[in-house]
Amino acid sequence: MEIIIRDNPQDCARVAAKIVAKYLRGKKGPVLGLATGGTPEGLYRQLISLYRAKKISFKNSTTFNLDEYVGLTHSHPQSYHRYMKEHLFDFIDIPEDKINIPDGTACDLRQTCLDYEARIKASGGIDLQVLGIGRNGHIGFNEPMGSLSSRTWIKILTENTIKDNARFFEDAGKVPRHVITMGIGTIMEARHCMVMACGWKKSQAVKAMIEGPVTAKWPASALQFHKRTTVVLDEAAASLLFHKEHYGWVEKNLLEWQNYEMP
Ligand code: GLP
Repeated sequence: MEIIIRDNPQDCARVAAKIVAKYLRGKKGPVLGLATGGTPEGLYRQLISLYRAKKISFKNSTTFNLDEYVGLTHSHPQSYHRYMKEHLFDFIDIPEDKINIPDGTACDLRQTCLDYEARIKASGGIDLQVLGIGRNGHIGFNEPMGSLSSRTWIKILTENTIKDNARFFEDAGKVPRHVITMGIGTIMEARHCMVMACGWKKSQAVKAMIEGPVTAKWPASALQFHKRTTVVLDEAAASLLFHKEHYGWVEKNLLEWQNYEMP
């Protein structure tokens, strides 16, 4: 894993935007995997600014979101369809038919999951998958103790995740218990994964993901087997890392072409 540590969430968002921009500029038809939650909001603001400054365009790109709640209409204020429109899609030039988000309102949920996998495959696969991480180490909505080779499917949230996500709803009772999420196996097929985490509340999950044993107890730890994962952390999220200084040392010694901060 490649670990990038910055002073604060704003600086994390800036470096994450540079990584996404590299794909938008460098590839003819980039396929981006996108995440929701509080953490990537800063990244999306940066991408909108870069788009407005005409430094990037999404017109040839395709996107696949990680997950969606089952049963929320696309216009529901807490649905991830609505989140993506409000935080990114309404402000950029991505063609509507290139946007893919799991459909939690589908009559046949199992078929919609199979179709989602097929669409990812048909697109040529995900070039860069943006990920956040839950406090219990979930990525997408892959909760602890699920299969580390799962595919897009219907999952049940833990009570802790329901509590964590209740802040976006009127109360925890309104948070759906069922979700559709890309599986860990699906995420592992992305050619490059970029995990963002900020704040001390994430520090234990971050430590388990990077320095712990690979275990279904901390689903993000499966990324230790991924061929190319970049983790972008603020100081608080990185605070429990045993090898923190080493990660800084590695970044200082990157060759110019390896460094995201270089033009
Ligand atoms: C949700 C999403 C995840 C996200 C996590 C953390 O559970 N399904 O993809 O990573 O929340 O969210 P936040 O960034 O708000 O802490």
